[in-house]
Amino acid sequence: MSDRVAHILDEVRRYHQDTQDGRGFVPGVTEIWPSGAVLDDEDRAALVEAALTLRIAAGRSARKFESAFARRMRQRKAHLTNSGSSANLLAVTALTSPQLEQRRLVPGDEVITVAAGFPTTVNPILQNGLVPVFVDIDLHTYNTTAERVEKAIGPRTRAIMIAHALGNPFEIAEVAQLAEERDLLLIEDTCDAVGSTYKGQLVGTFGDLATVSFYPAHHLTMGEGGCVLTSNLALARIVESLRDWGRDCWCEPGESNTCHKRFDYQMGTLPAGYDHKYIFSHVGYNLKATDLQAALGLSQLDKLDDFCAARRRNWGRLRTGLAEVPWLLLPEPTPGSDPSWFGFVITVDPEAPFKRAELVDFLENRKIGTRRLFAGNLTRHPAYVDREFRVSGELSNSDIVTEHTFWVGVYPGLTEEMIDYVTASVTEFVGTHR
Ligand SMILES: Cc1ncc(COP(=O)(O)O)c(C=O)c1O
Repeated sequence: MSDRVAHILDEVRRYHQDTQDGRGFVPGVTEIWPSGAVLDDEDRAALVEAALTLRIAAGRSARKFESAFARRMRQRKAHLTNSGSSANLLAVTALTSPQLEQRRLVPGDEVITVAAGFPTTVNPILQNGLVPVFVDIDLHTYNTTAERVEKAIGPRTRAIMIAHALGNPFEIAEVAQLAEERDLLLIEDTCDAVGSTYKGQLVGTFGDLATVSFYPAHHLTMGEGGCVLTSNLALARIVESLRDWGRDCWCEPGESNTCHKRFDYQMGTLPAGYDHKYIFSHVGYNLKATDLQAALGLSQLDKLDDFCAARRRNWGRLRTGLAEVPWLLLPEPTPGSDPSWFGFVITVDPEAPFKRAELVDFLENRKIGTRRLFAGNLTRHPAYVDREFRVSGELSNSDIVTEHTFWVGVYPGLTEEMIDYVTASVTEFVGTHR
């Protein structure tokens, strides 16, 4: 790094410090966001350094992030994308690749998923002409169970795609075993659960593919961004091809002939020797992220352990503080798991003398941000009403979540004072409704 760049970056770090909001927490005035990016002077400097080099497309930093993140997530390959939703689209679409031969999913095949969650865990199933099979969740963990997944398997079922709910792992070891026994492909949507473990193993390492989001609400951020993880090298090639326009060639931009056979291929009905750089083996997309995003991701990655520890601490403080409050169903980690929480989920007992809307209103008026468990029961949304899907069993808990559940934040930007104010506010509200 030149002296001039070092000087600029020092100035950027100073600017960061000078522009921090020095005002302390004022209960009822300071916003307590449910989630948000935690960005320090090094993050700001990393972004500016990337901008100074004018590395505006995906390049060196993107590759560096992919290797570092794959290592951190104990997977062989990570492919950076422009969002977690794109990562999900790539993961599901990869399962339809002709290169998987008879394991390939074809239109009409079923994918088991959860009814209560984020839409883009499910949308790629529909976008690929596949049929979602919705299963219900348990209250407290907000996850489905291996038993429900097993019951949902039908003659056309070929894959499972489930998210670890708000950081809480589902019974992924059991579901992975089931997938193996029944020859089903398995995708873990790990967008909300980076750093969570199940039976001592990192989530995202059990399935054939896993996905991550780097939107500001998530454990690491790049602004926008996402990632597909896998240790299956054949799937990794497919994901890369689909992400990069569907091309067959794997040379980085600016590179050529790394396979030493650039003009030696014959594929499809193309003339022999057609430039491999322009041979397309998939009907692909361009879902790449930029080096600016990756530079921020690299800087954030250094702090991942601290971020996860803060999420666990904040969740634990809320859980202890609210333990004795009546009429609330409090969250529980799935037995055997150590979640790196995304949020703190509360379900108002349907028999309570108050409604979710009243409690949420009370909290929001005190500047305590709340969110829903995403879509709640997706099958009740207009987007899905006339889509083909199957429901296995009842979706009664998904309906309870739709009507009675919300969550508050645990992200690392929250202080103990803020967490205690949330606890005191919930306790005060419930206390006035006995
Ligand atoms: C479980 C889950 N999957 C996928 C996504 C989509 O990620 P993105 O917002 O980066 O597209 C989210 C977003 O919060 C999510 O919570």
